[in-house]
Amino acid sequence: MMVSYYYNGLVESDIMISDRKFAGSMYDCWLRYEICDEKVLDEYKDYFKYIVVKKDNPIINNAVDELKKALSKLVDDAKVLRHMIESDCIFIGTLDDFESEGLYVDLEDELKSEGFALKILKRNGKNVLSIIGGSEKGVLYGVFHLIRSVFGGKNLEDTLCIENPQNDFRILNHWDNMDGNIERGYAGKSIFFRDNRIVQDFSRIKDYARLLASIAVNGVVINNVNVHQQETKLITDEFLPDVAKIADVFRNYGIKTYLSINFASPVEIGGLSTADPLDDGVKKWWKDAASKIYSYIPDFGGFLVKADSEFRPGPFTYGRNHADGANMLSEALKPYGGIVIWRTFVYNCMVDWRDRSTDRAKAAYDNFKPLDGKFLDNVVLQVKNGPMDFQIREPITPLFGAMEKTNVFMEFQITQEYTGQQKHLCYLVPLWKEALDFDTFAKGEGSFVKKVVNGSLFGARYGGIVAVANVGDSECWTGHPLAQSNLYGFGRLAWNPDLSSREIAEEWVRLTFGCDKDVLDTVVPMLLESREIYEEYTSPLGIGWMVNPGHHYGPNVDGYEYSHWGTYHYADFKGIGVDRTVATGTGYTAQYKEPVAKMYENIDTCPDELLLFFHHVPYSHKLKSGKTVIQHIYDTHFEGVERAEKMRDAWITLKGKISDEIYEAVLERFDIQVVDAKEWRDVVNTYFYRKTGIKDEHGRKIYE
Ligand code: GCU
Repeated sequence: MMVSYYYNGLVESDIMISDRKFAGSMYDCWLRYEICDEKVLDEYKDYFKYIVVKKDNPIINNAVDELKKALSKLVDDAKVLRHMIESDCIFIGTLDDFESEGLYVDLEDELKSEGFALKILKRNGKNVLSIIGGSEKGVLYGVFHLIRSVFGGKNLEDTLCIENPQNDFRILNHWDNMDGNIERGYAGKSIFFRDNRIVQDFSRIKDYARLLASIAVNGVVINNVNVHQQETKLITDEFLPDVAKIADVFRNYGIKTYLSINFASPVEIGGLSTADPLDDGVKKWWKDAASKIYSYIPDFGGFLVKADSEFRPGPFTYGRNHADGANMLSEALKPYGGIVIWRTFVYNCMVDWRDRSTDRAKAAYDNFKPLDGKFLDNVVLQVKNGPMDFQIREPITPLFGAMEKTNVFMEFQITQEYTGQQKHLCYLVPLWKEALDFDTFAKGEGSFVKKVVNGSLFGARYGGIVAVANVGDSECWTGHPLAQSNLYGFGRLAWNPDLSSREIAEEWVRLTFGCDKDVLDTVVPMLLESREIYEEYTSPLGIGWMVNPGHHYGPNVDGYEYSHWGTYHYADFKGIGVDRTVATGTGYTAQYKEPVAKMYENIDTCPDELLLFFHHVPYSHKLKSGKTVIQHIYDTHFEGVERAEKMRDAWITLKGKISDEIYEAVLERFDIQVVDAKEWRDVVNTYFYRKTGIKDEHGRKIYE
């Protein structure tokens, strides 16, 4: 293991810690199928002897296999039958299967295609535990729902339900490169690529597909949004046969495969002299490319595009705009039902820090708002939750309330680039929920972001939630075993944003570690407060950054202060923060709808936690908490370390209740977290003490 506080000059891979030694129990994640509550099991047992299923296709067969696997832990010899039986049983199928058995369920109007219902139906005096899917995928999700309930200790009555996904698209983006490295990956190497080829052993991909299906993820983009030379060729005959094999594996779990593409492909691999989206030759090139892709992968999902951002090529080179670029691609995919997912993470990353007039936070809105209504209907804009870049605290991107005539997906980041890199515990569901529950007021009160992204607020054709995955070939998939909760949480939240952070945490803990009360009472609160703790000892009051440039790990208050990336805090001896007001600052607040704009504009109504994002204030400025900004910085940094230590101590009480391997692996990470939290505390406190000369009111140790 490398000790993680040697920050400077290291690249990400150097600060990976090996987790090979805890192979085993965490590989199955939340699908380990250990019974939690025997009493609850009694309610289900009578149904578990027979699984009746009529359809025979890959998705249904995977559902049946899963059920068999789960039930084999509970009853001896569960039988799969292809016909109905005069006995209590489980019957799984789509609506037509139920009708053909005379079981009229009257769900046509209620079930979406990926939805499912769990009901007890009566047939000839027998009870049939029925899993009714709106489609095969719905059946698969229904089976996983039952399994989740049984092993999570939920009683039968609470398991019966009708559920539909609130978001039709639930997609994971993998920032995997073909050399096997993962951009911002903290869990080992790619499970898709190695040595510039696609892996040939698909077993791990199958296991992954199963995990994703269990949380109802229905799309994967397998390569990095930064599409380099080799990856540009993924859409050619050289690699499509292998991409198709990956797509086959995912398809059988109801998951569509997508690719990130290089906008300059016609030039880089097509031999054309231009990639101008309005050029007829370019249009034809992409149409031919699409036709080829669909000949290999008939249900190919579509393209993810990072264009004109961070040195990636795009339509700007040819004097065209993003609608020109996206629409050209969408026309190529349209005949096959594919979509273009176009990212709005577009900003000038070559600004001069001396120039106070530019504001990176404004970029997405400035670039895309004027194009609202200009995108074809199979184009979706993928918008990061915050206007900067996945910081521990950011306001919502104002674009969410502004694109009334455009499909919009939410983009979250599960991989913990700025949130502890899977060495620190940071359960991200509370952060995501805050974003989804934010009221944009775009159509009056109640115009929540979750309604924008599921398409319902503005009547968009497509809606969805996307996240950058946190997995790799680490034995537990996520590097930090507890970081599995974020992958799990993403899937659950994308399915139903109304689930609470606590509900999701409890489900995950039960399924992963069992129902031991001490484990639940320790790990659930730990997850729930971990984001706040991380925020406390890192950058204060919404200002973000203060990390080492490049790999983004560890404190460096001025790391980005004089660089070209546009991520400044403007701390001097008098004050800190970015004035983004209309009155005296960059004018960013005007991108929000009223009354949100006013709330942020006015220093008295701007929430404390985002104060420095919106306002430049003196260190003596009093927060609503009654503390000055400087005292808040000191207090949170001391408190954050203490709370990180308490998390580690709490974990230690679980020795013997969690498998030794996992216990040790997590403890090792908590040790690192505590050391690093102290480093953050001391660097940040000393920095501000030196700037201000103001002492801590409580006389704690701040280095001079
Ligand atoms: C961040 C991240 C990059 C990534 C980019 C993106 O800037 O550091 O590695 O490529 O986001 O989302 O495109």
